[in-house]
Amino acid sequence: MTGTRRSFFTGLVAVGGASYLKSAAASTRQLAPMLAAVAGGESYWSLVKEQFPLRRGVVPMNAANLCPSPRVVAERVFELTRNLDADVSHQNREKFVGTLDESRRKVAEHLGVNAEEIALVRNTSEANNTINHGVPLKPGDEVVLWDQNHPTNNVAWDVRAARFGFTVRRGKVPRSPKDPGEILKLFADSITPQTRVLALTHVSNTSGIKLPARELCEMARRRGIYSHLDGAQSWGVLNVNLREIGCDSYSGSAHKWLMGPKEAGVLYVRKERIPELWAHTVAPGWGNKVETEAKGARKFETLGQRDDACLAAVGTAIDFHKMIGPERIEARVMELAAALKAGLAKVRGTDIITPMDPRLSAGVVIIHFSSADAKKVYDTIYAKHGIAGSAGLRLCTHIYNTMEDVELAVRAVAEAAG
Ligand SMILES: Cc1ncc(COP(=O)(O)O)c(C=O)c1O
Repeated sequence: MTGTRRSFFTGLVAVGGASYLKSAAASTRQLAPMLAAVAGGESYWSLVKEQFPLRRGVVPMNAANLCPSPRVVAERVFELTRNLDADVSHQNREKFVGTLDESRRKVAEHLGVNAEEIALVRNTSEANNTINHGVPLKPGDEVVLWDQNHPTNNVAWDVRAARFGFTVRRGKVPRSPKDPGEILKLFADSITPQTRVLALTHVSNTSGIKLPARELCEMARRRGIYSHLDGAQSWGVLNVNLREIGCDSYSGSAHKWLMGPKEAGVLYVRKERIPELWAHTVAPGWGNKVETEAKGARKFETLGQRDDACLAAVGTAIDFHKMIGPERIEARVMELAAALKAGLAKVRGTDIITPMDPRLSAGVVIIHFSSADAKKVYDTIYAKHGIAGSAGLRLCTHIYNTMEDVELAVRAVAEAAG
């Protein structure tokens, strides 16, 4: 470690106590010029990796499930939690109104929308359920899903349909789609005059396929259909601008690719759609009338006592993200994923399920094996090399991974599957 790097870390360790609110911001400010001084290439990304408190020998590759957060984020949660435990008075906690609003504003800016359209919820699961619970539907109405949607945006609609009597239909994308146009046509063909909702996943957690979200939402809008996009595998990895995508709602988890605090998530609802959606939970903050006093999308986050430290740290995660740059993050994740897919494609007996085409994929990489047991490969690469993937086998590289990590993963899979 160089002298400059060491002094940066000494500075971080010294951070603590009641002065932390200021110090956390200072840490990000201190880090920015250091990163800027390293022009680029692998040394830049090695320095980025050093900002994560990874145990030596552990190589995280399960971003689709859970990401580590950089020290600045975790420290902010710790310090604000300590501060709160030291004094639970309303007076001491007043500051959390400001930190929540700051996080909301930063998330809105990050996603290219207005703060009034953002609810800070607990995760994608909750946000998806807010939508499938909230859209008014009756017998005869139809909801069109992608059969690869996560259960919270899939069977959750069946559960609602069993109660309210609407119909659920599913579009199936072929194993190897040719191009985004083929996918668009497939969903266009699934829609009927009865379709009221199109609820999709931006990037599938089971195949890694990325849908042409903008074109699909535009098609839905032209036909007066509500469009919901599950962004669990796109928020924090793709440079998402929701105004450009044009969906009516979008969900995401801060603890995935955004590398934020755990159990924090986003629900975006387009301003015009907010009044027509029912909230599933009514708690203080809502007011005492059926017509809520909660402004804009805040009506979807009246959940009683929240983890204020965690919600404040969502803003810190956005600061970290912004410091590196959303375009740069997307480009790096795509670079790593391309190298990983290219390396694994050469391993005998592997079948890369995720498209190689960057128009049809993002950071999720799924590999099947013709003869090896995927669960055994998943366990072996962790036991022998510390590579933490997801059973399946799913490997997802992020900005805390280096090209060396990718090379290691390719060697480890070849050895375990061989
Ligand atoms: C596409 C998708 N949606 C929703 C979720 C649920 O995320 P969470 O557990 O953070 O609510 C996941 C989790 O992997 C996912 O991949």
